[in-house]
Amino acid sequence: MISKSTIDQVYETARLEEVIGDFVQLKKSGSNFKGLSPFSDERTPSFMVSPVKQIWKDFSSGKGGNVVAFLMEHEHFTYPEAIKYLAKKYNIEIEETERTDEQKQEANERESMYLVSEYAQSYFSDILWKSELGKAIGLSYFKERGFTDTTIHKFNLGYCLDQWDGFTIAALDKGYQLNYLEKTGLTIVKPDTVNTEKTKQFDRFKARVMFPIHSMSGRVLGFGGRILTNDKKAAKYLNSPESDIYHKSKVLYGIYYSKQAIAKEDNCYLVEGYTDVIQFHQRGIENVVASSGTALTAEQIRLVNRLTKNITVLFDGDAAGLRASLRGIDLILEQGMNVKVCTFPEGEDPDSFAKNNNLEAVQEYLKANSKDFIQFKAHLLANEAADDPIKRADTVRDIVNSIAKIPDAIKREIYVQECAHIMNVSEGVLFSTLAQIGKKQKTEASKKGQQEQKAFEVVKNEVTVAKVDVQYELERKIIEMLLLYGKEKQEFEDLVLKENDEGELILEPESLEIKVYEKIYLDLQDDEIELTNDRFRTIYQKLIAELNEKEDFAVNTFLANLDQEMVSEISSILMEEEKYVLHDWTRKDIYPKEKKTVIAQLVSETILTLRCFLIKKRMLSLQQNTQETAEDHSETLEEIMNYLQLNNLLNMKLSRVLS
Ligand code: CTP
Ligand code: MN
Repeated sequence: MISKSTIDQVYETARLEEVIGDFVQLKKSGSNFKGLSPFSDERTPSFMVSPVKQIWKDFSSGKGGNVVAFLMEHEHFTYPEAIKYLAKKYNIEIEETERTDEQKQEANERESMYLVSEYAQSYFSDILWKSELGKAIGLSYFKERGFTDTTIHKFNLGYCLDQWDGFTIAALDKGYQLNYLEKTGLTIVKPDTVNTEKTKQFDRFKARVMFPIHSMSGRVLGFGGRILTNDKKAAKYLNSPESDIYHKSKVLYGIYYSKQAIAKEDNCYLVEGYTDVIQFHQRGIENVVASSGTALTAEQIRLVNRLTKNITVLFDGDAAGLRASLRGIDLILEQGMNVKVCTFPEGEDPDSFAKNNNLEAVQEYLKANSKDFIQFKAHLLANEAADDPIKRADTVRDIVNSIAKIPDAIKREIYVQECAHIMNVSEGVLFSTLAQIGKKQKTEASKKGQQEQKAFEVVKNEVTVAKVDVQYELERKIIEMLLLYGKEKQEFEDLVLKENDEGELILEPESLEIKVYEKIYLDLQDDEIELTNDRFRTIYQKLIAELNEKEDFAVNTFLANLDQEMVSEISSILMEEEKYVLHDWTRKDIYPKEKKTVIAQLVSETILTLRCFLIKKRMLSLQQNTQETAEDHSETLEEIMNYLQLNNLLNMKLSRVLS
């Protein structure tokens, strides 16, 4: 794990506007910066960066957060990856903690394997561009395939010379250890046939052009090497073996170069080969990844699922393997993604098609020929089994199997209706087959059912929240005040119950100078009020603790120790007022200033309103109790009376505050 002090240092050093400036063109706008949203296509800027608060907000997509949240959204980094990226940018040394010696050893090993792979990538591309043989053989091969210099550079393509151990020797010379060369599979180590005490080393990728395979964050994990001859006996492509850093089932070729376009286009083209990905990029279609010729895995789909819910699978024209490939698509459906398929003309693959047609033609072709997967499959099966009743029964089961994989019940129903039409069977038959399959996958289905239930609940909640939720708004406002003015000392007026000279009880105003957070804390504690929104409650507790402990409270350092969900919530609260600035509302000049001068009033008003609101709610529910049961209600009624009194008192205070 990265140590807390490193994380703190990263947050202290990193300047949000600089980090974002590497990806988005920012223009100064008042005390903020603004630019075009990197998360959607827009003409007028709605992306705001506040250097003071060190938070950003994208008003077109609703996303927002701190510097780490930006990198996680934009670069699709994990949290540690984002911290590491920043540490690198600002030359901060990363201190790791809580690792056993064994873990350290493992991490060091993996790190060494990454380093060796990184070196190999640069070595192979140096050979390609600088050596005579590399230029004559490797480079000219790529040129012949139609790749431009820019493309070849972009994908870090390379060449491994036709020598037994040219690369291995060079790497050893540079100080890389044979151990790691072997573990990454770059070098094959074998016992010497003559002197068995000794070993011999060979370059695995001898005489092949090299395609480095990158992780989502751009680290070199392994290689694919293509042979240049037409030797039928040798494999056309040779790939790095499975290792501690390269897990074939968990990578997709091209994802590093394509992730932004995938998120932006909200669709991912899935192709088979390295060259398909590269040719598409060169043609101007960048939302594409390759499964590298193997069957898709759930982990690979999950990678895409982080970026978009939509996949379009592109099939080569020689549709021999089409039926077999269709089965793999059920995996995509299972993850709740929308799947389309597109086939290419006989004898063409995405590579050749993109090479031989211009961007407009390719886009048009994709648009015209991408078909919804279930419909596509239903048509295909219906044609195949047209006049064979037994085969028809099989195909019905086959298509329903696919439909059964879809987690969303509404979508399932729509597909059943459509497929019944396409395959010319009754909906009833399809539904009962679906039910049968459902029963068979009972255990699995029950798990999924729960998820579905949850998803449904979320939807319901959202609907209720959509109405203005007074309590939610008030709780949010309390958080906002703590964040903005927590440490500020203010004069608060309170009405205190006192005995006057005549011995009567009266309410007398008394002023008290305390900090905003103290006022909020004390008042809420008075009524034993807890915020009802889980996120707000957590933030509230942390905020109070931090304001109480720290001499200087800074939002930035406070955010550093929260998880991203909280950070995003807080950012959206803090950025609310920026929205007024952004939209150039007339309030722009008055609103923030006004807010400052009347902090004490605002705080009192909010707390009192919340207290009144809660008391009314409580009274209502007590009243309901008395109506529902026939027992003796005297105690409840007394309670209600007390609340009523308190409510009157609070209302009095409130009207004083407001006047
Ligand atoms: N593949 C592989 N090993 C092989 C053949 C293919 O790993 N022996 C993988 C490669 O990732 C390749 C993909 O499967 O990119 C698709 O294979 P294929 O369609 O045969 O190759 P193309 O990408 O069309 O390659 P090329 O155009 O270079 O012939
Ligand atoms: Mn090809």
